[in-house]
Amino acid sequence: MLEVRNLRKNYGTQTAVENVSFSLSPGEKLILLGTSGSGKTTTLKMINRLIEPSAGQIWFDNQDARQQNLNTCASKWAMLSSKRAFFLILRWPKTLLYFLK
Ligand SMILES: Nc1ncnc2c1ncn2[C@@H]1O[C@H](COP(=O)(O)OP(=O)(O)O)[C@@H](O)[C@H]1O
Ligand SMILES: [Mg+2]
Repeated sequence: MLEVRNLRKNYGTQTAVENVSFSLSPGEKLILLGTSGSGKTTTLKMINRLIEPSAGQIWFDNQDARQQNLNTCASKWAMLSSKRAFFLILRWPKTLLYFLK
C-alpha cells in the first residue's frame, strides 16, 4: 500500500509539484498523466526517495517512508527511466518485452 499526502517540491522559487495526494493498493495501477514539465518525474523521484520532498508525506504499508531503511524501500520499489539512452541499449522488441513483463 502506497499513500502519498499533500506532496510538494520546490526548486528554488519554482514549485515543481504541489498538493499531490493519492493512494495505491497492491495490484492497482496508476498513470500520472501530464504535459512535459508538469511534475511527473519529480513525483516519482520523491516516491523512490531519490530526492526529498519540500512538504508532504509518503507512506509505505502504513509506515512513513522516511523511517524505513533505504535498502528495504529499494527491494520493494523501482523506477525505470524512459531516457533515450535506455531505449538505445535495448532494441525495441527487447524494450517492449521488458515493459510487458
Ligand atoms: N533538478 C531540477 N532543478 C530545477 N528544476 C527542476 C529540476 N527537475 C525538474 N525541474 C523543474 O520542475 C518542473 C517539473 O519537472 P518534471 O518533474 O521533470 O516534469 P515532467 O516529468 O512531468 O516532465 C519543470 O518545470 C522542471 O523544469
Ligand atoms: Mg519526466
